[in-house]
Amino acid sequence: MARALSAVLFDLYGTLLDVHSVATRADQLFSGRGAALVQLWRDKQLEYSRLRTLSNRYVPFTQVVEDALQYACDALRLPLDAAGRGLLMHEFTQLAPFADAIPSLRRLAAVGLTAGVLTNGDPGQLEDALCGAGLEEYFDVLLSADQARAYKTAAAVYELGPLTLGHPAGELLLVSGNAWDAIGAKWYGYRTFWVNRSSAPLDRLGERPDGIGRSLEEAVDFALRLHGGGT
Ligand code: LAC
Repeated sequence: MARALSAVLFDLYGTLLDVHSVATRADQLFSGRGAALVQLWRDKQLEYSRLRTLSNRYVPFTQVVEDALQYACDALRLPLDAAGRGLLMHEFTQLAPFADAIPSLRRLAAVGLTAGVLTNGDPGQLEDALCGAGLEEYFDVLLSADQARAYKTAAAVYELGPLTLGHPAGELLLVSGNAWDAIGAKWYGYRTFWVNRSSAPLDRLGERPDGIGRSLEEAVDFALRLHGGGT
């Protein structure tokens, strides 16, 4: 028989928070280029986090985000001055939550399931982001890759869940809007759900998340089924 579910851990960026919400501000600085800038900025954050992990060159995610922003502006030939950098870095701490985040988290809380965040973000970012989005009250545990000094998909990051919660990974559900993150967690041994909001194809890494849907509401439906608690 499958194990009962003990807790649900959520990825932060692109799962609870919309990383593209900063595009409006970026567009005010660089007219018509906001969306392109934000896409390259995000891609470079992930690339740098992985390169630093592969070569054991950890710096906190705030630094990764700032380096990625500077690179993206250089590559797109956008003049970023100190004020613009400060504005966009601040905006990154104030990302909008997806509209289904609070209703979904309320449903989990109503059945008493432990909920947490497991993110590449460093502790300061995590706290600012959750407060900025009004999500801070919904979580029992906040886990940052900073504790492992490595980034996803390093096993040391996913290990924080079982270590902190005292339950094996097979009793934990990792919900992520990033397919590669859901797959990384599955490799580690979690149960996983991919929130595929944009109907993207599944990454070809030889593994599938246990559940796939379009929204956090569907992720919570899946969690409640595993929990055996109905709605
Ligand atoms: C995070 C990134 C991967 O929050 O979205 O960890």
